[in-house]
Formats: sequence, structure tokens, C-alpha cells
Amino acid sequence: MKTDRRKFSKTISKIIPIGLITPVIPIATSCESNQIGPEKSLTIAPPESHEELVAGEAFTLKWISSGVENIDIAYKVDNAASWLTIEREYPAAPGNYTFDVFRNINGKVLTFRISDAIDETFSNEGTPLKIIFKFEINLDNYPQLKEDGGIVEFDDGSTDPFVVQNTGGDSFRSLSKVCTHQGCVIDLQGNSGFACPCHGSQFNIDGSVTKGPAERNLDEIRLEKVDDSTLIAYV
Ligand code: FES
Repeated sequence: MKTDRRKFSKTISKIIPIGLITPVIPIATSCESNQIGPEKSLTIAPPESHEELVAGEAFTLKWISSGVENIDIAYKVDNAASWLTIEREYPAAPGNYTFDVFRNINGKVLTFRISDAIDETFSNEGTPLKIIFKFEINLDNYPQLKEDGGIVEFDDGSTDPFVVQNTGGDSFRSLSKVCTHQGCVIDLQGNSGFACPCHGSQFNIDGSVTKGPAERNLDEIRLEKVDDSTLIAYV
């Protein structure tokens, strides 16, 4: 597949409101601190390492609160100018909310915000969460992947570019093609590894960095084998 030498970037999303999601007027101010007095607090909990935000699947948003009865829940994708409210006056006490991530969501990161339903300036913003897409690979369409050492590039623009390699028998490995230095798309150099066209970083075929300025190995993409002919890459 074609390798794009330009720095990889994606268009900031335009979310089409569906179901309960409605655009709201941006809130002009938010608290620098999530504490007003000793009795009131509202904090989004960071996800556990195994909790991912996957397009088309449910994600559980969790928070810790005290002194707040009901909250409004909103999110934005990438650097969108306004927040989209998904729940109003949701009880704060359970401390969690299940959010169904759209299958066709368009963006790289999603950020949640929760705010006191009666004082929207009292709010807390979570850290941006990477949006992960499920990319289905039919092995029957890629005979290279049925051979030991075979490697295929996936770079159709629907996800971050990545490669899948047959590492022997029925085992596979998937690596991101986004350079860990400053995000350029790296080039596959046959079966010997990868090179970055921007500042010259090089990586082994297993993703380990061999030459800087990149300091980090390529990101590994999670793979799931559904059956003998289907892989799912979580890109
Ligand atoms: S972005 Fe790849 S070496 Fe700088």
C-alpha cells in the first residue's frame, strides 16, 4: 500500500448529533480548581489500563464527587470549540455513566467534562482519551500474511497507518507507522525495518528504535484473532 511521507494528521471531527446528543452553547468559564469549600468536589477518574475507548463499543466514565447532587455530562473530540452534552441532571452519586461511543466517530482523542447541574462553572475536565478503531482484516485478501515474515501496510486514511506482520505460524504482530519522535509516517524498508523521512529515525522490524532522534519504540497495535481468516486490529 502507498506510504504518505507527509506528517500524519487527521481532520478535527464534526460530530453529527445522534440520539440524546445535542449541541450546547460553550460554557464560558470553568473552575481552575474542582474544590469550592471543603464539602464540594467533582473529579473524573482516570481509566484503568485495560479500559479503552473503542469506537462502536461502550465506555464507562467514572468520577468521584461529594456535595454535588446532579451533574451534566459532556464531551468534545480533538480540539472542538464546543462541548456536546450527553446527559443533563444525571445523579452524581453512582459515580459512573456508560457512554456508547459512535462507530463512525471522527477524531483522534475524546475528552469528557462533568459539571454541577445547578452551577455549570463548577466542573472537571478529564484527560483526553485516545479513540481506538476496530479494523477488520480478512487474511484471505492478504496472502503475504499467511507466510512467515510476511508484512502488509494498511494506510487507507480511515485510521492511523499501521502494519501487520506474520511472526511465524499463526502469530501476528501489528505496529503503528506513526513515528514516536514527532508523528511523521514512517517508511517500511523491505523486511529490514522502518525509516522516518522527517528526521531520520530508524526502527527494527519488531518496532524497536535503532537510531534517534526518536527515543521510543513504535507503538504496538492490539490484535485479536476472530477466526482462521479474520484479525481485528485495535488502531
Ligand atoms: S518525526 Fe520521525 S524522526 Fe522526527
